[in-house]
Amino acid sequence: MFRDKKLVIALCSSIAAYKIPQLVRIFVQWGAKVKIIMTPSAKDFVAPLTLSTLSKEVVWSDFYTEKNKSWNNYVELGVWADAMIIAPVTANTLAKISYGQCDNIVLAVYLSARCPVFFAPAMDLDMYRHPSTKENISRLIKRGNILIPAEKGELASGLFGEGRMAEPNHIVTIIKNYFSQRSILKGKKILITAGPTHEALDPVRFVGNSSSGKMGFALAKATSQMGAEVTLISGPTAESIGYHPINQIKVVSALEMLEKVLQHFDTSHIVIMSAAVADYRPENVSNQKIKKETDVLNLRLVKNPDILKILGEKKSQQYLVGFALETNDEYQNARKKFLEKNLDLIILNSLRDTGAGFNKDTNKVTLIDAKNTILPLTLKSKEELSFEILHYICGAIR
Ligand code: PMT
Repeated sequence: MFRDKKLVIALCSSIAAYKIPQLVRIFVQWGAKVKIIMTPSAKDFVAPLTLSTLSKEVVWSDFYTEKNKSWNNYVELGVWADAMIIAPVTANTLAKISYGQCDNIVLAVYLSARCPVFFAPAMDLDMYRHPSTKENISRLIKRGNILIPAEKGELASGLFGEGRMAEPNHIVTIIKNYFSQRSILKGKKILITAGPTHEALDPVRFVGNSSSGKMGFALAKATSQMGAEVTLISGPTAESIGYHPINQIKVVSALEMLEKVLQHFDTSHIVIMSAAVADYRPENVSNQKIKKETDVLNLRLVKNPDILKILGEKKSQQYLVGFALETNDEYQNARKKFLEKNLDLIILNSLRDTGAGFNKDTNKVTLIDAKNTILPLTLKSKEELSFEILHYICGAIR
């Protein structure tokens, strides 16, 4: 399952470290090459000898090994790994990572890592739900690191709640899914649209909507992290692709979006239309700013082309995904769009769900496919949701 995969496991100082020898053992049994690093105080919870015996590798907990008088090349480790798993990660290390600190080897390898980084928090429930911890976790997620959420259960303090590190088998499943999705998406051409479209009224005004682009950008980043070649066609938005190798094409109006989408459609394997395309545009666009000379201003709007419907009519081998943003009769409306636009999958979000839809960091969606399978997903960050959506798509196209 993990043959030839190179994993760095980084331990921090938490009682949950006792689970890591088992995690190492599973990975090694499944063929992975595992190198282990730990913060100096993590050694209080699990002995380096245990971990080096299981991994058959030297375990580093410092920048320098006194015995060999040698410097531990953390940069090499960051470049070597196919994935880095920080487990358990404490509130302290989360805060340090989130601010880019680098005063131990775990933090130095994290900053040097070119591979995806998974992090599995472990702490007491009040620490886990503290706003500063939440903020640090969401900062890491925003940077593309992958959260392995803590679970509910009895905690070392004797309290009961969320904060227990995920079980080793669960961590292994997440990493396994990641690699299998990556092998499916690697090299695939994925076309994603994001954000609103602005339909000009005059040189300073437009008809638009509240889409921020967050959902589409999160999808594009997750897809790119999975090794796909991503083209992102985005309407006006403050979102950025950061360091991700994404081919971003900026457009303003629905007609421009249509033109760019059509240029890339034929060569795409998967198309995800998350943009909130304006259904109508002003019939006439004034060359000059419209003056407020009358009490009433009548606007005549004409219909924009339905980009997704056009793609549905054109599609050959593409897996076509649409979104539906609804306020009422959600399921019926989404199903209707699914059929009319000849889709493979529709992702329904409802403005009636708290935390879902426009301009939020979170979303709550239901996936509906050709077999009319209805899969409701729980409220989560748009980044986490993107990986779940990709997981579903990979299952469908494999
Ligand atoms: O950008 P965020 O702030 O993160 O918000 C995300 C989102 C709410 C915009 C996103 O999750 C979402 O729901 N996007 C689709 C919004 C929408 O326009 O829904 P719709 O039901 O009107 O359109 C259905 C589908 O047809 C969509 O895939 C849309 O891209 C497409 N469409 C719509 C109209 C049109 N003229 N052409 C299209 O291609």
